[in-house]
Amino acid sequence: MLILGLETSCDETGVALFDTERGLIAEALHSQVDLHAVYGGVVPEIASRDHLRRLLPLIRQVLREAGTEKADAIAYTAGPGLTGALMVGGGMANGLGLAWGCPVIPIHHMEGHLVAPMLEENAPTYPFLALLVSGGHTMLVWIEALGAYQVLGCTLDDAVGEAFDKTAKLLGLGYPGGPALALLAESGDEQAWQFPRPMINREGFDFSFSGLKTAVMLKVRESDDLESTRADIAASFQRAVVDTLVARTLKAARHQNADRLVIAGGVGANKLLRSELDQHFPGDVFYPRLRFCTDNGAMIALAGALRLTDGEKPATILATARWALDSLRRPAAIA
Ligand code: KG4
Ligand code: ZN
Repeated sequence: MLILGLETSCDETGVALFDTERGLIAEALHSQVDLHAVYGGVVPEIASRDHLRRLLPLIRQVLREAGTEKADAIAYTAGPGLTGALMVGGGMANGLGLAWGCPVIPIHHMEGHLVAPMLEENAPTYPFLALLVSGGHTMLVWIEALGAYQVLGCTLDDAVGEAFDKTAKLLGLGYPGGPALALLAESGDEQAWQFPRPMINREGFDFSFSGLKTAVMLKVRESDDLESTRADIAASFQRAVVDTLVARTLKAARHQNADRLVIAGGVGANKLLRSELDQHFPGDVFYPRLRFCTDNGAMIALAGALRLTDGEKPATILATARWALDSLRRPAAIA
């Protein structure tokens, strides 16, 4: 069965074709980063219009690459995300579904990120612990099966990607700031300042990043020569974030007796985070390839394929700006 996946929740238009027998067979991505960079962040209206402009040409491109004119099913990101952007993907998916007479499956964006490591040869098996770190979410999730998610902890304020982006902005780096900050940190001294490691000794598995962001802001303000201290601030900030994420993840892993860990979402591309978890997690660590850490159509096509294989039936159109991951159900229960 051939599944077309569409991702339009934020600032990347992602399209992919996943074959349940052969795996991923075609994939295309258009990033809107340049369009939003001048505004220092994502402008929802611009995002929706660009998805509308790009989506159909990208779909044509992947169908052509795969040598086919249609798919057997369509999966699209139905939330969480920017409502207008989600509606572009949802409208396209349901229109094509009508034209092709095939099932259309709404997918939770974070479920897409969760299953993304299964696109790799070395795929995790259930159950596993997942650290989901993106621009909008920071979560520790225990996964028993597709759709059986227990959220152990999440951020009480900023998402970790958001903290990277806001700190990068303070340091005068462009948007999106995460990758630029990580690059700058490579030439800095991570011991230069001891920024707070928020919540590290608190009970439970929640996160908080707004205090850390404020500490960096104060340091930037009191710095007479920001140019010469920027790299040290970036490195010290990144170290504080990574120490916090690693400590909370290891604690959750001990609690769940987890011997498999998945790292997913845009911040999962961070090299320091990967190497620290590789080093300190006692079991096996799984990541998607770098391209599939950030938003893409392949993870949505795969989530659709897994849900269909598990017996899910098509659902009504959804575009949901806020959507709790642990409200999802196993596909057979939805059918
Ligand atoms: O998953 P994603 O593409 O979009 C959302 O669903 O939010 O994640 C984007 C986030 C941005 O905040 C970006 O700055 C961050 O991931 N990011 C990074 C790195 N690459 C992307 N943060 C830290 N280090 C990186 N190498
Ligand atoms: Zn994402």
